[in-house]
Amino acid sequence: MIGGPVRIGALVSGSGSNLQAIIDAVESGQIKGGLVVVVSSNDRAYALERARQHGIATEVVRYEDFSSRREFSEQIAHVLTEYRVDLVCLAGFMRILDRVFFERYHGDAMNIHPALLPAFGGKGMYGHLVHEAVIASGTQFSGATVHFVTEECDVGPIILQDIVRIEDDDTPESLAAKVLQVEHRIYPKAVELYCAGLLTVDGMRVRRRSGQ
Ligand code: GRF
Repeated sequence: MIGGPVRIGALVSGSGSNLQAIIDAVESGQIKGGLVVVVSSNDRAYALERARQHGIATEVVRYEDFSSRREFSEQIAHVLTEYRVDLVCLAGFMRILDRVFFERYHGDAMNIHPALLPAFGGKGMYGHLVHEAVIASGTQFSGATVHFVTEECDVGPIILQDIVRIEDDDTPESLAAKVLQVEHRIYPKAVELYCAGLLTVDGMRVRRRSGQ
């Protein structure tokens, strides 16, 4: 474990650049919380390597090893509970979780999405598909969203968002790169606010109390 009192667990499947941003913010003291475990659905995820480099425990829970989404989700919740995780950060986690997970972590799990929800979210809207759809729509702005995770994909209360302008010559790749920079700024900030106890959820609206 690195860091302080709120026990954070991250769920990952891929490169883990958002995980890295959270690790950096824990190590710099911006986030008053400790990363106690990184759980990956993919045993080859580079995110696991990042965790090891920072002395954070790692676990692999592969969807393919379970006979149902429910059992997979139960195992994820079980591992996080074993590590006494308070806050779960989905950071490029490519699996949809069953309601058993939310029975345990409702209000204490966040996700980052590479667009301005509630637009361009939901099942099938991930990775480059999001940026392709955004560009095809003709919208002039995109951005990133950190939200609390609920049973319905990409629909939970929004914690933080920020925008990027889409230029005429942007491609899905160039847009993804610009959005990723926003992600790396707002995800650690959302975790910081949660760990400082400054977030309250009022229906779909997340209210942020002042820290001082
Ligand atoms: C990010 O674009 C995030 O918004 C999405 O998956 C991607 C993960 O990237 N949910 P990384 O693994 O954090 O680099």
